[in-house]
Amino acid sequence: MSILITGGAGYIGSHTVRHLQSLGKEIIVLDNLQTGHRKSVDVEKFYQFDIRDTEKLDQVFKENDIEGVIHFAANSLVGESMTDPYKYYSNNVYGMLCLLKRMYENKVEKIVFSSSAATYGEPKNIPILETDPTKPTNPYGETKLAMEKMMHWFDIAYGMKYVSLRYFNAAGAHPDGDIGEDHGPETHLIPLILQVPLGKREYISIYGDDYPTKDGTCLRDYIHVLDLADAHNLALEYLLDNNDSEIFNLGSGNGFSVKEVIEAARIVTAHEIKAKVTDRRPGDPAVLIASSEKIKSRLGWNPKRENIKTMIEDAWRWHKNNKNGFDDKN
Ligand code: UFG
Repeated sequence: MSILITGGAGYIGSHTVRHLQSLGKEIIVLDNLQTGHRKSVDVEKFYQFDIRDTEKLDQVFKENDIEGVIHFAANSLVGESMTDPYKYYSNNVYGMLCLLKRMYENKVEKIVFSSSAATYGEPKNIPILETDPTKPTNPYGETKLAMEKMMHWFDIAYGMKYVSLRYFNAAGAHPDGDIGEDHGPETHLIPLILQVPLGKREYISIYGDDYPTKDGTCLRDYIHVLDLADAHNLALEYLLDNNDSEIFNLGSGNGFSVKEVIEAARIVTAHEIKAKVTDRRPGDPAVLIASSEKIKSRLGWNPKRENIKTMIEDAWRWHKNNKNGFDDKN
């Protein structure tokens, strides 16, 4: 029996593939390589096509013995979703519809889904609980929420079971230093900070220092990509044990400000890292911190790399060794 990982050549996908392989699981990767990297995964079965290509998708389910799916394949940039919502509704929502249809037709009824803190929108309470209101403030968050709701109704109608993992700010890289974050364009704080000591950027912009926080910059809950990968494995095991559908937050429960992250990067890289305060980035909530108590108590999830310096050290090793990301690899 194998596990199908859609979007397995992306940042979180590739770390989950590596983690599941290390546990002896048989993995099949499906990725259209729109944003993923073929070199980020070492698998025997790699399919390169879009999940909206339902004939090919059907073929994958027919020619393999698949017991569950981990679904990462989606577009995930908040800013881009504001200017191109069509892309997000088509790839994320319609893509999910194609996947679920082919899953239930082929009697594959377990899915772990890569969701997001963006489903909450501007939070009412900190830390955020899974029972808090969901009111996305951008099409990216809206599409992730629509995908969750689709799974809910497919569960009620067809008995398909899902675990939705709402992650906060994924960070870090595999400690081996050979896979990591490689987005084009890059928009995330930690890889952008590390471009300064790499000589690719003169300074890091701090998007606003007038937020109602301890130092005026936004607080985020950073979670190591390997702790995320581990949560996907636990969620899959939970579903394969015939448990019911669930939604879990995934964060470390600690908030770090933009200035604190830059300071930690200065220590890790031993580089001064110039920073300049600029205007706020539209749509950024001041504070996003998760309560992850539910997944800890229900699935026994136990994050092992919660220290922000560990996350930056791992990211730094990857970026230093691969200045041009996966383009540096043979
Ligand atoms: N930031 C800067 N300068 C930069 C880049 C980012 O100050 O050059 C700040 C942002 O304003 C924010 C923090 O750093 O306060 C983190 O920004 P990221 O872009 O790294 O991450 P976000 O918190 O915006 O995004 C994350 C996930 C998204 C998810 C979103 C939910 O990456 O997938 O949270 O709001 F949708």
